[in-house]
Amino acid sequence: MCSVVLELPAEQLRERLRRGEITVAVYGLGHVGLPLAVAWMEAGARVIGVDIDEEKVKALNRGETPTEEPGVAQAIKQFRAAGVFEATTDTVGASRDADVKLVAVPTLLGEDKRFDGAALLRALRDVGRGLKRGDLVAVECSVPPGFTETTGRAVLEAESGLEAEADFGLCASPERIYVGRALEDIRRRYPKVVGGVGERSTEALATLYEVVAERGVVKMSSATAAEASKLFEGVYRDVNIALANELAKLCQAISVDYMEVREAANSQPFCHLHIPGCGVGGVCIPYYPYFVAEAASKRDVDLPLILTARKINEDMPRYAVDLAVKAAEEVGIDLGRCKVAVMGLAFRGGTSDARNSPAYEIARCLQRLAASIVVHDPLIRRDERLQRMSIPLVSSPSEAFKDASVVVFATDHDEYRRLDLGRLAEQLTRPAVIVDGRSLFRSVDLPPGVRYVGVGKGA
Ligand SMILES: NC(=O)c1ccc[n+]([C@@H]2O[C@H](COP(=O)([O-])OP(=O)(O)OC[C@H]3O[C@@H](n4cnc5c(N)ncnc54)[C@H](O)[C@@H]3O)[C@@H](O)[C@H]2O)c1
Repeated sequence: MCSVVLELPAEQLRERLRRGEITVAVYGLGHVGLPLAVAWMEAGARVIGVDIDEEKVKALNRGETPTEEPGVAQAIKQFRAAGVFEATTDTVGASRDADVKLVAVPTLLGEDKRFDGAALLRALRDVGRGLKRGDLVAVECSVPPGFTETTGRAVLEAESGLEAEADFGLCASPERIYVGRALEDIRRRYPKVVGGVGERSTEALATLYEVVAERGVVKMSSATAAEASKLFEGVYRDVNIALANELAKLCQAISVDYMEVREAANSQPFCHLHIPGCGVGGVCIPYYPYFVAEAASKRDVDLPLILTARKINEDMPRYAVDLAVKAAEEVGIDLGRCKVAVMGLAFRGGTSDARNSPAYEIARCLQRLAASIVVHDPLIRRDERLQRMSIPLVSSPSEAFKDASVVVFATDHDEYRRLDLGRLAEQLTRPAVIVDGRSLFRSVDLPPGVRYVGVGKGA
């Protein structure tokens, strides 16, 4: 084992990693942590997976990996069999045993729309208690800009009695994965962004990540700049989605199809219009505008565009419900006597991740108006939040459509794009309404008595 990561010349550091002489503790074995652990093991590291969830740790040590990320479960099993991976709940011991600590625990948004870093602070305290001279710590979480250099550094220094940059390395290296493609993203698709609290920290982590990430490393001048780059990616998308949503509303009013207009506009190289939709979910985009706004408000900086965009996107589930209600009224459906179906619970297509999904808000609103409601998702078999709402999750599109009067597509699953919508619609009562909240269908051939509306769809 090597406990002087911060001291080693770059070539030696890379060699030690490749030869399996560097031990990495990954804190938080979730959507990010598990693929991250595999990426580092593929580069040569030994990994201690650290989590406070005892059941998860036991399952991992039995060879069962709770993840849908392609390639990850199989790899963990193989690395475990080869003796280079173990999972533990000993959060302080793992820090003592590891040279590099990567922290990938949840960072949340509180009810008050402020950053909730409780899990991260707890993890950093434990890392600090086991920290040794020459070690390297990386905050892989998404955090408000400045967190690592101020709060993170203070916690680690107070717990360890050591000084960041002089005694141990400290960096922000925010994770950029797309759920469902995480390992591929880390290993091959994106360069890794790394910014330390000083040059030694940046150089040490960048040297190691050059082995892990095929696309190399973007070295930043500070941890704060690295943190900001991650949040700005999300804010860019949120603001552009809001713009698309606003223009989609106009398209509806002037009876043109947003997607047709978008295709034409985007044929000019400076235009990158996004796809509108019935809301933005997940644990990234909906949080980052608030993380950025919190940093701004502490410094008396006003960010009206970012917060307006967020509000537009937060209102989109309600907008999709309004589309459904208006169309239902127009064709003479009495929602209070009808069944409605929500197609899709995941926050986007291709994943079973439903965290902060707009589908919940759509279902909640429709539940108040309709006689009965069901939800379908091809990738989700059970959902506790839906159970608490007393909404059944049905197992096939056909079951969802049967005798429904209103159907709202809330998730862009490929399974939905491939549906024979005309045939399925035969099972609806008449009159009926289908709301396409995700621009899933470009042209539809529906039976008489079924009206098709959608976000950004003209007449
Ligand atoms: N999911 C994404 O798409 C994504 C993408 C990029 C960045 N991120 C960021 O990565 C971080 C992790 O997100 P995630 O989606 O992997 O979270 P997750 O909820 O999937 O997993 C987090 C894991 O951390 C464990 N944990 C909680 N507190 C802990 C502690 N103190 N010590 C050790 N383990 C602890 C939990 O039990 C859980 O297993 C967050 O900051 C998030 O914003 C997530």
